[in-house]
Amino acid sequence: MKEKAREARQEQRIIGLVPTMGALHAGHMALIERAKKECAPVYASIFLNPKQFGPKEDLSRYPRPLEADVEKLTAAKVDGLFLPDAAEMYPHGFSSYVNVDGLSERLEGKSRQGHFRGVATVVLKLFEIVQPHSAYFGRKDAQQVRIIQQMVRDLNLDVEIAVCPIVREADGLAMSSRNAYLKGEDRKAATVLYHALQAAAGEIRAGVRDTLELQRTIHKVFDGEPRARVDYAEVADADTFEPVVRIAKAAFVLLAVQVGPTRLIDNLRIEPVGDELHTEL
Ligand code: PAJ
Repeated sequence: MKEKAREARQEQRIIGLVPTMGALHAGHMALIERAKKECAPVYASIFLNPKQFGPKEDLSRYPRPLEADVEKLTAAKVDGLFLPDAAEMYPHGFSSYVNVDGLSERLEGKSRQGHFRGVATVVLKLFEIVQPHSAYFGRKDAQQVRIIQQMVRDLNLDVEIAVCPIVREADGLAMSSRNAYLKGEDRKAATVLYHALQAAAGEIRAGVRDTLELQRTIHKVFDGEPRARVDYAEVADADTFEPVVRIAKAAFVLLAVQVGPTRLIDNLRIEPVGDELHTEL
């Protein structure tokens, strides 16, 4: 991979990277399509990174449909797939990690100790190996994007971070490899995240700025869905990911919710435009 990247760089070509953990869906493919518009060659990586999973998390049952993934990448005319194994990425004696302090400790980081250390470490390794000019990430994982941007800034990395919108199923459920775990009634119940965010967006459009009021609205929606257990429902500053009391600048409404055996996340982006706040699901 490094050799290929070096050749492409020498030929002045623009390398795009789309890092994934596989079980590819339309959300991943949207990143690839965007990358294909802006870069050549475009490389995808599939690496189910053990260092970003906690000991009690779903690493062992995470879906691994490699053949179907390769078919999708071939159809999308990706120029190459980087498919390392864990022993190659983390050989015996591996001991260097990237910690993005502060940002990594809140919200997703609090619920999933060590998660973002694993993410930042593997993403830096992928950047070093693939040498991309641009790397593509989804806003579905809003805190992950912010942490990677911070790492790029702090460590002077020469890579442009492109952020793509959330791709959703027809009923609003954000696409995720983990949606494969959702069976029957749980799958139907999973739309509650979208409905809660829609309700919050409606209130914001109607002029509500107070976080507590938004949280009351959100929890009312979840009260109607006994299969869902809220881990967190917070409004966070888009820059610091610190809690916001009254929304006045760019922010996210962030949800993490357990539906049956499956943990789901989703978010609403809030953006000031003139005197108004715009919302994006
Ligand atoms: P993974 O969950 O496979 O996601 C790969 C990329 O696809 C991430 O940037 C994620 O935000 C994006 N993505 C997932 N679902 C999406 C959706 N519905 N709409 C838009 N984009 C979506 O995120 C990871 O892998 C890993 O943490 C990784 C960055 C690869 C590091 O291991």
